[in-house]
Amino acid sequence: MKIDRATKKDQPDIERLLEQVCKVHADIRPDLFIAGNRKYTEEELAEIIADDSRPIFAAHDEDGVLMGYCFTVVEEHKGFNEPPHKTLYIDDLCVDENIRGKHVGKALYDFVKVWAKENGFYNITLHVWEHNEKAKSFYDAMGMKIQLYGMEEVL
Ligand SMILES: CC(C)(COP(=O)(O)OP(=O)(O)OC[C@H]1O[C@@H](n2cnc3c(N)ncnc32)[C@H](O)[C@@H]1OP(=O)(O)O)[C@@H](O)C(=O)NCCC(=O)NCCS
Repeated sequence: MKIDRATKKDQPDIERLLEQVCKVHADIRPDLFIAGNRKYTEEELAEIIADDSRPIFAAHDEDGVLMGYCFTVVEEHKGFNEPPHKTLYIDDLCVDENIRGKHVGKALYDFVKVWAKENGFYNITLHVWEHNEKAKSFYDAMGMKIQLYGMEEVL
C-alpha cells in the first residue's frame, strides 16, 4: 500500500467512495442525507484536490487502485481567546466497502497523524455521527478522545 496526496486521476474513485460514505450516513440519518448523492460536486472536488489547505491523502494498492482516502482541512487558530495553534480537521475518511477491516483505515490515520506532527499541528479533530458505531469504534481504536458534543433538537 502507498499513501500520498490525491491527484486528479483519483477523482472518479474518490467520487465513488464519497457515495459510499453518503450511503452510510443516509442509513443513519435519512432525514439529512440523500443516498446515492455525495458531499461534493465534480467541480468542488476538483478544487479541493488542488488545494494545499485541504489536502486529501489517498491509499493505493500495488496496482494503483484507490483503497481509501482521508480529506483534511488546515485550520489556523488565531482567536483573541486562544493560544495560536494549527488543527488538522479530518473532513472525511473512507475505505472502499470491499476492503474494510483490513487496516487500510489505520494506515491512513497513522499517515495523517505523522504528517500533522511533522507539519507542526497541535491536534487532529473530526466529527462523527451518533449511531455510526463502526466509525466510533475505529476512532476509539486510533486513540482519539471526545473533544465536544454536538447537540440537536429536530423540530
Ligand atoms: C471507519 C473506516 C474508515 C475504518 O477503516 P477500516 O480500514 O475498515 O478499519 P481498520 O481495519 O483500519 O480498523 C482498525 C481498528 O479499528 C477498529 N474497527 C474498525 N472497524 C471496526 C468495526 N466495524 N467494528 C468495531 N471496530 C472496528 C478495530 O479496533 C480495528 O482494529 P482490529 O481489526 O485490529 O481489531 C471504514 O470502516 C469506513 O470507511 N467506514 C465507512 C465510512 C465511515 O463511516 N467513515 C467515517 C466517517 S466519520
